[in-house]
Amino acid sequence: MKKILVTGGAGYIGSHAVVELLDSGYEVIIVDNLENGFRELIDSRARFYVGDMRDLKTFENIFIEHKIDTIMHFAGYIKVGESCIEPNKYYLNNTYSVMNIVEMMKKYSVKNIIFSSTAATYGDVTIDGLVEENYPQNPINPYGMSKLMAEKIIIDAAKSYGINYAIFRYFNVGGAHESYNIGQMGDGVTALIPILLQVANGERTQLEVYGNDYKTKDGTGIRDYIHVVDLVRAHILAIKTLEKNINGIYNLGNGEGFSVLEMLEGARKMTGKEIPTVYVERRAGDPASVVASSELARKILGWNPIYTDVNKIIETAWKFKNK
Ligand SMILES: NC(=O)c1ccc[n+]([C@@H]2O[C@H](COP(=O)([O-])OP(=O)(O)OC[C@H]3O[C@@H](n4cnc5c(N)ncnc54)[C@H](O)[C@@H]3O)[C@@H](O)[C@H]2O)c1
Repeated sequence: MKKILVTGGAGYIGSHAVVELLDSGYEVIIVDNLENGFRELIDSRARFYVGDMRDLKTFENIFIEHKIDTIMHFAGYIKVGESCIEPNKYYLNNTYSVMNIVEMMKKYSVKNIIFSSTAATYGDVTIDGLVEENYPQNPINPYGMSKLMAEKIIIDAAKSYGINYAIFRYFNVGGAHESYNIGQMGDGVTALIPILLQVANGERTQLEVYGNDYKTKDGTGIRDYIHVVDLVRAHILAIKTLEKNINGIYNLGNGEGFSVLEMLEGARKMTGKEIPTVYVERRAGDPASVVASSELARKILGWNPIYTDVNKIIETAWKFKNK
């Protein structure tokens, strides 16, 4: 049985990857420092180590104990706003950790890495059309830059150490596994869907809409939403292409954009709650529209997302929240 090391497996996306991997017959080792992760999200079929990739000594023990085939690297800090206040925190975790990972891959002959990158590496997207992987990468915040640097480190390591990589640039990830045992948790989430549901639930008083004067269908920003289970399934498919030594960088999105007001309407219908809303100033660097082309993932990996209805993404997130 192939052994997959999942970093950040107690987090939102990592915990979903763990379940899909186990259900697909892989043996799973998890490392997570539980800083933003939750023991409740860890599947008991996996082997769990509390550990931190910044601490090479502890991290190395995992490689001494296990012969790892592939690393799925989800661990990291994810808040754009915080990264502008504490950039070093982001470079230390999101960038330096990747140097430690490739060092371990070299030392212990781990062949493959699958890395969580982000649409934030594109920075200020100025096209109305779909963003392809060759769109210029000019991050406008330390979060995006920390991930772009990590991408470069992986690509250089692949050239020099002969490892294989799949780099995934996620757009906006949402929803929950339909077992409703795992989903997005934590108070500090900054994504639109969890905020909408927090307002619906009375945990927040209102939704702040950042700008309603964009040149979009209703003046509010347009984004691409992808269900977390579809997202992690692309990672499972990538294991097979890496086994054939096919490296790749792939966007993961649904290819359809929804405005903040459309998402608000969807959440109102789904929850039956009013969801009070106020309009505030645009945030610096928020583009009008960011929608992915994921043709490459479809073509090379045979990826085919099934949660193409954004209301289903909202619904699964809501059901998890209420379980
Ligand atoms: N959620 C999104 O919409 C989104 C979008 C684009 C990219 N991503 C990327 O996906 C990855 C996973 O995101 P998520 O939403 O699941 O975040 P999350 O915060 O839920 O999960 C991250 C996990 O990593 C752990 N962790 C952080 N630093 C660690 C370290 N140094 N050592 C060990 N464990 C550590 C945390 O405890 C947490 O469990 C991140 O790398 C993020 O940048 C997420």
